[in-house]
Amino acid sequence: MADQHAAAAVQPEHMEPAQTQAEAPRTTGTAIVITSGKGGVGKTTSTANIGAALAARGRSVCLVDADVGLRNLDVVLGLENRVQHHFLDVIEQKCALEDALVQDKRVPSMVLLPAAQTREKDDVRTEDMAALIEDLRKRYDYVLIDSPAGIEMGFKNAVVGAQRAIVVTTPEVSAVRDADRVVGLLPKGIEAQLIVNRLRPQLVRRGKMLSVAQVDEILRLPLLGVIPDEPEVVIATNRGEPLSLKEGSTTGEAYRRAVARLEGEPVEIEDYSAEPGGLLSRLAAWIGGRR
Ligand SMILES: Nc1ncnc2c1ncn2[C@@H]1O[C@H](COP(=O)(O)OP(=O)(O)OP(=O)(O)O)[C@@H](O)[C@H]1O
Ligand SMILES: [Mg+2]
Repeated sequence: MADQHAAAAVQPEHMEPAQTQAEAPRTTGTAIVITSGKGGVGKTTSTANIGAALAARGRSVCLVDADVGLRNLDVVLGLENRVQHHFLDVIEQKCALEDALVQDKRVPSMVLLPAAQTREKDDVRTEDMAALIEDLRKRYDYVLIDSPAGIEMGFKNAVVGAQRAIVVTTPEVSAVRDADRVVGLLPKGIEAQLIVNRLRPQLVRRGKMLSVAQVDEILRLPLLGVIPDEPEVVIATNRGEPLSLKEGSTTGEAYRRAVARLEGEPVEIEDYSAEPGGLLSRLAAWIGGRR
């Protein structure tokens, strides 16, 4: 399945910049919902980083902030000052789609369709959301939908137009349990993959955090990526700069590898389980443990 999407995504006509997509003859793009059940596990961070990495690979990408009332994706992308309209304005025909889209200046083939800040999740009708996503799939290689936490109306609207799902969890029992519940609620036929976010290898080695293998054993989903817990993520979030665009960033590299896998490349999953080998790393672990 992933290979089919990869094959579709690398067609030369898909390499066009976002603004010319309407004129270009093309096949339909793929809508992917980023979801989790539990709040605060890294859905928005993952949407921004995966979207930016896809755009940096030449894909046209539309990021849809489906978290009505609690929008965040614009801030994480550093685009909040340029937001004028939101997707409910488009659905309610208060503005044209083009007027609501905010184009990213770093990776111009990526656009954001913001959420309304002052509306309720229940204001969106599922059939309208499905039609909107369908329309976006005609214009972009990828439509990434940032889902709100929970399993109510906001979740239902976020998944309705998607063909694929990225389920994000942290290695905590409560997050894994909520992710499991969400997987069970995904509409039939959706291909789901897993991102384990905020892994702390030292805690795993000390037996104080679930390992990726343990999370995998419970959820039994194909693993798309493992993202380490790094302070650089919080700094990047505050600056509005996705780390997947930054060379030399550990987290950015983890997201770039996840995106290569998303497009069907046989990239190995990072092995964070190994004991640190050298004297220096053992010393660093010992010092870390004494803090
Ligand atoms: N790998 C990571 N390392 C360190 N901090 C992280 C990591 N991933 C996310 N965070 C931080 O965790 C917080 C929550 O992340 P984020 O907003 O992406 O979660 P969310 O699932 O979208 O939350 P919500 O359910 O509220 O929408 C943010 O402050 C973010 O910077
Ligand atoms: Mg979020």
